[in-house]
This record gives sequence, structure tokens and C-alpha cells, in this order.
Amino acid sequence: MSVKIAIVGDIHSSWTERDTDYFNQSNYDMILFVGDLPGHYHRDLLKIASQLSKIQLPSLLIPGNHDGVSTRQLISELFHNRKMIEKYSSRQEKLCTALKKTLSPITMAGYSLHSYKFNNLSFDVIGCRPHSAGGAELAYYPYLERKYHVSSMGNSFKRLKDLIDQSKEEKLIFLAHNGPLGLGQKRDDIWGRDFHPKEGDFGDLDLQNAVDYARIQGKHVIAVVAGHMHHRLKGGGYRNWIQQEKETIMINAARVPRIFQEKGTWFHHHISMKISDSKQLARINEILVDESLREIESRQGAI
Ligand SMILES: [Fe+2]
Ligand SMILES: [Fe+2]
Repeated sequence: MSVKIAIVGDIHSSWTERDTDYFNQSNYDMILFVGDLPGHYHRDLLKIASQLSKIQLPSLLIPGNHDGVSTRQLISELFHNRKMIEKYSSRQEKLCTALKKTLSPITMAGYSLHSYKFNNLSFDVIGCRPHSAGGAELAYYPYLERKYHVSSMGNSFKRLKDLIDQSKEEKLIFLAHNGPLGLGQKRDDIWGRDFHPKEGDFGDLDLQNAVDYARIQGKHVIAVVAGHMHHRLKGGGYRNWIQQEKETIMINAARVPRIFQEKGTWFHHHISMKISDSKQLARINEILVDESLREIESRQGAI
């Protein structure tokens, strides 16, 4: 009994027909997308969503902080300018409705519970807080409040806790845009802060509390799958993208750009996660696919 899941990190406009062809021809059971579809220009959002909708595998996508209405809105969030955030967030519902419709048959996740069963192995995926931008602030708060009645980290945890209580499965995967608090002391840690002279943890408190709560309820949290904190660090170097914490595999899939050239060859990046019913649960690899759709298995995650 095993299931093979593809994880696609922050896309930021790096998606082509070759990616769609590759996944449609692959032997993956499902795909998890961690969000951030457009690059610097938000007009790419629905264009990329439309390309993703051609995928024929069961797929889930959690929107990221770049999946908003405008660059101005994103900048307002970055500088925590409440007045500007409120001004620019007013069109977010309309955009999210369009995003959900354009992505279909891919399911848009966000405070949501999704049940899967492949090859007799069943598990639930919990779609966490959409549009997270990391850190202590609740990004997109006017929209989250209107749409989900979430106005604080405490409310957000409560939403996630309710989903955990609803789940009938022992095995859970959390799908989030940014990872949990508690794993980022240093700048190159999986969700460590590299963009500020002071290193520190840039994880999400609500997600950390949800993972802890799930464990207390006797759930087996197989993996937390997220991105947002890009692998290449400001000031040089690369962050750690995989970490085992207790029984859980933490995966940061945000290799940006995910399509890149190396020694004259173009590669398309994703992560492969194979889970089985045994206690030695997962095998995680970075996979690079070249332009002729040939797979090159990169390093295996240090599990
Ligand atoms: Fe990103
Ligand atoms: Fe992001």
C-alpha cells in the first residue's frame, strides 16, 4: 500500500505545456500545489491557473500571498499598511471566485478538508490558511475576516482545529503556503528569516498549533507541505528544504525559479513524496525534468 504524490513549489510564472504533459503522463497519484502562481505581474495569475486546469490528476492548490488582486496589494501587505490593505483587498472575493473556477478540476484549498484513498491507503489533506505571507501578521486579514470569519491567529487555529476534529482518518497531511513556526532559528533553516539582519523564525503560529493539536488527538501527521520561503537566500546560499520533526516530514518546495538552466540544459523542478503504510513512511526526492520530459532524480531528502 503506497501513494505517490508530486509537490509543486511556488510557480511564479514558471509553468509550461511541458509541465502539464509531464504530469499527465506520469505515474503520480495526485499533485499538491503550494501557491504563488504569478511572478511580479499579477495578470499572470489566471493565465497560469488556466494552464494548470489541463492537468488530469487529482490535485489540490492552496493560494499564496502573491495570489491577490494587484502588486500594490502585495506591497501593502509587505509593509503592513492597514489602510492600503483594506483599500486593495476589496476585490479579493471576486478574484478568488475566478481563480477557483479557472483552476477547476484542480481543487482550491483553504480552511478545507479533503479525503483521499489510493491503493487501499487513505488519508486526509487539511488545506490551511490561504494567502499566508509568514511571520506574526495575518496577511489578507480583511478578506479572511469576511470570507472565513478569521481575524486573528487564534481564530485561524480554531478553524484548523475544527477540521482536525472533523477528520475521520488517522493519517493527515497539512497543505499550507508557509510552514509552521518552530523550525526557523537560523536564516538557512527551512522557514528561517533570511531577508532581515536578525535571523529568526518566520513560520506560522496557527499551523504549529494545529500540528501539535492533531498529534495530541492521536493523529499521524505524515507531512506538512508548504513553500513561500524560497530556497535561494538573500545574501547568498540555499536553505534547508526538508526536515523531519517527530514523525512528520516538513517540506518546503519553493525552489524559485522552478524552471532553470544548468550547463546548457533547462530543468523543471518538483518534489516527489512516496508514502506507504509501514512505519518507515516516506521517501522524498527532488526531481528535475528536462525539456524532453526525462526525469533526473536529484538528491534524496535526508530522512
Ligand atoms: Fe513565493
Ligand atoms: Fe509566498
